[in-house]
Amino acid sequence: MSNTVKVQPDLTFVKELQAVGGDSLKKCYQCATCSVVCPLSPADSPYPRKEMVWAQWGLKDRLVNDIDIWLCHNCGTCSDLCPRGAKPGDLLAALRNMAYRNLAPLPIIGKLMSSSSGMLPLAAVPAVIYGIIWVIMASITGSMFPTFEWDAHAHAWKAVEDGAVVFGGLFPGDYTIDPIFLAVFIFMLVMFCMGVKNMLKAFDAQPKTFIVGRKKEPSFLACLIDTLQYEVLQHTQFFDCKDENTDELDEKRATGHRWLMFAFIALMVVTGVVATGHWGGWFLRTIGADGLGAILSAIGHTPMPWWSPIKLLAFVGAGLGVYGLLAVTKRRVNLDQAKQSSSWYDWYLLTLIWTIFLTGIGALVFRLLGIGLLAYPIYYVHLIGVFMLLAYLPWSKLGHLVYRTVALSYAKKIGRIPMGADK
Ligand code: HEM
Ligand code: SF4
Ligand code: SF4
Repeated sequence: MSNTVKVQPDLTFVKELQAVGGDSLKKCYQCATCSVVCPLSPADSPYPRKEMVWAQWGLKDRLVNDIDIWLCHNCGTCSDLCPRGAKPGDLLAALRNMAYRNLAPLPIIGKLMSSSSGMLPLAAVPAVIYGIIWVIMASITGSMFPTFEWDAHAHAWKAVEDGAVVFGGLFPGDYTIDPIFLAVFIFMLVMFCMGVKNMLKAFDAQPKTFIVGRKKEPSFLACLIDTLQYEVLQHTQFFDCKDENTDELDEKRATGHRWLMFAFIALMVVTGVVATGHWGGWFLRTIGADGLGAILSAIGHTPMPWWSPIKLLAFVGAGLGVYGLLAVTKRRVNLDQAKQSSSWYDWYLLTLIWTIFLTGIGALVFRLLGIGLLAYPIYYVHLIGVFMLLAYLPWSKLGHLVYRTVALSYAKKIGRIPMGADK
């Protein structure tokens, strides 16, 4: 007796998929050129042709649990060479977008993040929070754009006429910025943990690849370290993921992405040093270690002098970030839309990161020029941008920094991709 395979197509899913960027999949006639030309696809059960078939059939369960959508690095070679213009690379990007929308809990945020119309309520949350702080502080200091001097006795900023523009004076770090960002950061971590848990549960339903000659399965930790070394720090697969016709731009995309990632790491280190210096210094003073506390506080005190290595690291981070952003944005702007499209997720991420970098630089420049009328509003937008980046990270395309790292590690564990640099 033959086994019957029951195919249960989900037609709403096909429509949903088309809405998040996979709108050309119906053109595919399954020639498999895409799987053959993909520079990253494994020989065994290669992608993206099989995903095109599954998507046409509306096989939602297969697609949402598919680890291969995270192995694709979106070079667009498959779409470029597809004889039907079916854009298989876009389908995989659309499936990742769908994952951003559904992996973490609170699907309402995922839904709002999936289109431009959801931006207003999402931006309104930080806009209102920081707006209230601004109004309260304006009523205390007597101005919407106050200037300050440091009151060493009270260990606080004091509003004075003709003082300096000080963001910490208008938005006090200790009572507003730090607790809010700490809460947002913890929220983001918890949501990511749950999203990753859901992702691993979905992968567990996948068939495990068996590698002949492999003695035993490596631990997840070993795979994670391998991924961090090769795919994250060296970008091995990113550099391999290129289209012969647009070789140079793809190379620049990978280089730009790597610098952008290093820029984020540099800026995180700066934030970490400032927070540890400030709060660690306070803690040490509280437990009586005054000398050490004073040193730590001095390290984390802002604004920092020009010569401070931490400030220099912040400048290097900003410079690298803008350079990296220019490279990835240039490549996206130059995409041949007939072959590879950009979705809302792509533009949202680029626009948000640009906003954060430009308002960060703008706030610094106008603060130094002493123009509070511009410095404070720009800083306010900067705060909103950083809040949106962090709070909604598990539902945004930038979620890939966690989801992709986990998926690549898992793929190594099950032998879907090899360990080490040899891809
Ligand atoms: C703080 C860290 C990171 C930042 C700021 C960042 C930023 C970005 C940005 C802005 C893009 C979009 C480029 C475009 O529009 O073409 C992107 C794409 C990409 N990133 Fe990252 N990324 C980070 C971490 C990572 C990590 C850890 C990995 C790999 C494990 C990774 C792999 C990729 C890949 C493969 C793409 C292209 C795929 C796509 O556009 O969907 N990224 N990243
Ligand atoms: S997406 Fe294009 S290249 Fe791939 S199988 Fe379909 S028609 Fe062929
Ligand atoms: S976009 Fe690039 S990596 Fe992704 S499936 Fe197509 S050829 Fe492969």
